[in-house]
Amino acid sequence: MSCCPPNGACKPKPSPPSAATGAVSGISELLEAQQLGTDQKGVLDSVKEYYGEVLTTSDDLKTSACCTAGAPPPLVRDALKRVPDEVKAKYYGCGSPFPMGIEGLRVLDLGSGSGRDCYVCAALVGERGSVTGVDMTQAQLAVARKYADEYCSQTLGYAAPNMRFVEGEIEYLDKAGVPDSSVDLVISNCVINLSPDKARVLREVYRVLAAGGEMHFSDVYCDRRLPAEVRTHPVLLGECLGGALYMEDFVRLCRQVGFLDPRTLSSSEIEVRDKELKGLLGDARFYSITYRLFKLPEAIETLCEDYGQACKYKGTIPGAPHSYVLDDHHTFQAGKWYEVCGNTAAMVGDSWMGKHFEVVGDRSTHYGLFACGPAPAAAPAAPGGACC
Ligand SMILES: C[S@@+](CC[C@H](N)C(=O)[O-])C[C@H]1O[C@@H](n2cnc3c(N)ncnc32)[C@H](O)[C@@H]1O
Repeated sequence: MSCCPPNGACKPKPSPPSAATGAVSGISELLEAQQLGTDQKGVLDSVKEYYGEVLTTSDDLKTSACCTAGAPPPLVRDALKRVPDEVKAKYYGCGSPFPMGIEGLRVLDLGSGSGRDCYVCAALVGERGSVTGVDMTQAQLAVARKYADEYCSQTLGYAAPNMRFVEGEIEYLDKAGVPDSSVDLVISNCVINLSPDKARVLREVYRVLAAGGEMHFSDVYCDRRLPAEVRTHPVLLGECLGGALYMEDFVRLCRQVGFLDPRTLSSSEIEVRDKELKGLLGDARFYSITYRLFKLPEAIETLCEDYGQACKYKGTIPGAPHSYVLDDHHTFQAGKWYEVCGNTAAMVGDSWMGKHFEVVGDRSTHYGLFACGPAPAAAPAAPGGACC
């Protein structure tokens, strides 16, 4: 239920484009892809130069934004041991965007870079699954492609390679040859912030995902809307800070596209070590956040509603025999029944994870709002209202 009056008074007021001054005067401008200025090609060229020429390895980074904090899960650690060193040396990710239990899935990695996450996924999905990496920087693609066939055939022992790398822009997956509803899992690691048109990226993700598919990705977000001098600074942009969206704007963007209930899986603050860059950023705080967005048309609502449903995790996901973490407020112990809202029931029961869960109940009776917290951005402030 919304508390907005029918005349739309809660909607952000339209603001004229302010590229001349660079000032951001409203959410509409951010959501109309002008958060980095109007020169989208300029942004893409600057990012290509940064990842193709300025950086040689992750040691060249000036901040910890493109560095992953914390150890990945054991199955990922095992897979990483077999990834070629040169691929790992050019890794610039900020998280661990790998759900477990993805065997047989069709995976698409947006901004795959030198391919580290694709190499890991190629092992996790097995020979029946497939992995496609899309990136626009040729130098990164060259490294990703260099070892791909040998890795699939010799290291993984597959009869045919299940991994490929495509040159393209993530805003135009259609031009990169990715058909509608052809992907089960979209991953991405520290890339969307670099895009000059984040709305288009999310729309494309929604298009290419099959129903029941998921976007599971890590990226950099900010606790506020950044000023123009930060958004357009080439080093801050390249280091994945300048283009970071205010996290509440990101949630708004998700909802516009059809991902109505974005779930936060994990979040950790990013340390900016460089004094000069820190000075430019002021009090803004940055976070590496892993989000889960499910494409479940007609099944996901903006608020969590109670239909008297319950779910039980079967303990069958590899690497998670005892419990499964859906997000920052749902950890399901194997074999135990949990009351869940309609959205959560759909996420675990009707998505690619469905075979690992039992869900009882349907939506024939509604019992009101479900107390489903504490996802800060997605949860209502009080029962009955979400906006204003
Ligand atoms: C921070 S690096 C991350 C690379 C990789 N995901 C990893 O974890 O190592 C960003 C990568 O995204 C690519 N990229 C940035 N914006 C892009 C866009 N609009 N379209 C395609 N690739 C993009 C860059 O070329 C670069 O390889």
